[in-house]
Amino acid sequence: MMISPREHSQESESTLIGALATSVMVVDPGLGIIQVNPAAESLLAQSATKLVGRQLREVIAGGCEFLQIIARVFAEGRSFTERDMVLTPLNMHPIVVDFTVSPWDASGDGEVKAVIEIASVERHQRIQLEENMIRQNHVTSALMRGLAHEVKNPLGGIRGAAQLLERELEDQRQAEYTQIIIGEVDRLRTLVDKMLGPRERPEVGQVNIHEVLEQVNQLVEAEHTGAIKIVRDYDPSLPEIKGDRDRLIQAFLNLVRNAVRAIEGIDATITVRSRADRNFTIGDKVHTLVMRIDVIDSGTGVAPEISESIFFPMVSGHADGSGLGLPLAQSMINSHGGLIGFKSEPGHTEFTVWLPIEVGK
Ligand SMILES: Nc1ncnc2c1ncn2[C@@H]1O[C@H](COP(=O)(O)OP(=O)(O)OP(=O)(O)O)[C@@H](O)[C@H]1O
Ligand SMILES: [Mg+2]
Repeated sequence: MMISPREHSQESESTLIGALATSVMVVDPGLGIIQVNPAAESLLAQSATKLVGRQLREVIAGGCEFLQIIARVFAEGRSFTERDMVLTPLNMHPIVVDFTVSPWDASGDGEVKAVIEIASVERHQRIQLEENMIRQNHVTSALMRGLAHEVKNPLGGIRGAAQLLERELEDQRQAEYTQIIIGEVDRLRTLVDKMLGPRERPEVGQVNIHEVLEQVNQLVEAEHTGAIKIVRDYDPSLPEIKGDRDRLIQAFLNLVRNAVRAIEGIDATITVRSRADRNFTIGDKVHTLVMRIDVIDSGTGVAPEISESIFFPMVSGHADGSGLGLPLAQSMINSHGGLIGFKSEPGHTEFTVWLPIEVGK
């Protein structure tokens, strides 16, 4: 009998499917449910034992079009995606979902099944928000750089003129004024340099993310001469990625420095954590594998009045902050195909960087 190899293959299918955050159901050509993952169990509010073996039409009511699409997948042997469709799981309120149905010849013996991936629209909205965020960041950084460029040009002239003037002064006590001009010009120059961001072309190479994080953590710890201890919680199995090491260091430095600022004067901790996430969408792209780096602090949290706009330039919760750290970090991470997001409440703030890992390249 063929029992053992099939059992073995089903075992590995269920582990993989079980790990997915999207709801996944596998059905046979008769639309009988063969497998469901935990995300689908929670979406349909029924356990796998109750679902497996039943007909799809028994557990999802009113989804006639849904059933037709699955039948077409079997008939035509290709995938279908449908957005914003209303499904009514048995005894539940209707939900709006996006779903993809694909044919799947798991055992390679021509016995095709259909894999149904269902994402609730909340996820779809998140993707749109992320796409918007990436686009907005593009526009605001272009604006910021343009402005910084215009401001920077005359600064050299103003500084030079102030120095010449200082040399010509008959009363050296008036040098106090030229020094003010020079001092303010230097301050502005530092600001516009920061707004212009990294000048050189990106230098792309193989990057070990933990080496980047260590560089950042050690630098921040040294800046605070032992007063700050960063907890490391790394997944050492993460592979190297292609990227610009210096820009990644800059991006993480901005996040860790913000965390340090948030715990100033209180007894709190900072943790830097690395993990892998599977089948993750960044903007509109689905990645098989991404790395997730969380910079977590137990500080006061992001002030609610600015939480919607902290990735915009010049938005700062501190009187002396330039509000450039996050937008610059976002640009640098976006240029690696990644994204920064955050969630925050008093006592727990997590800034998360997702970076795609190119699999098999
Ligand atoms: N971990 C955090 N906890 C609480 N608030 C934060 C955290 N990270 C960022 N913020 C808020 O977001 C604001 C914007 O951060 P951003 O890094 O862009 O600018 P900044 O730190 O004020 O100035 P800069 O980084 O340019 O010196 C901060 O001023 C702060 O109010
Ligand atoms: Mg900052």
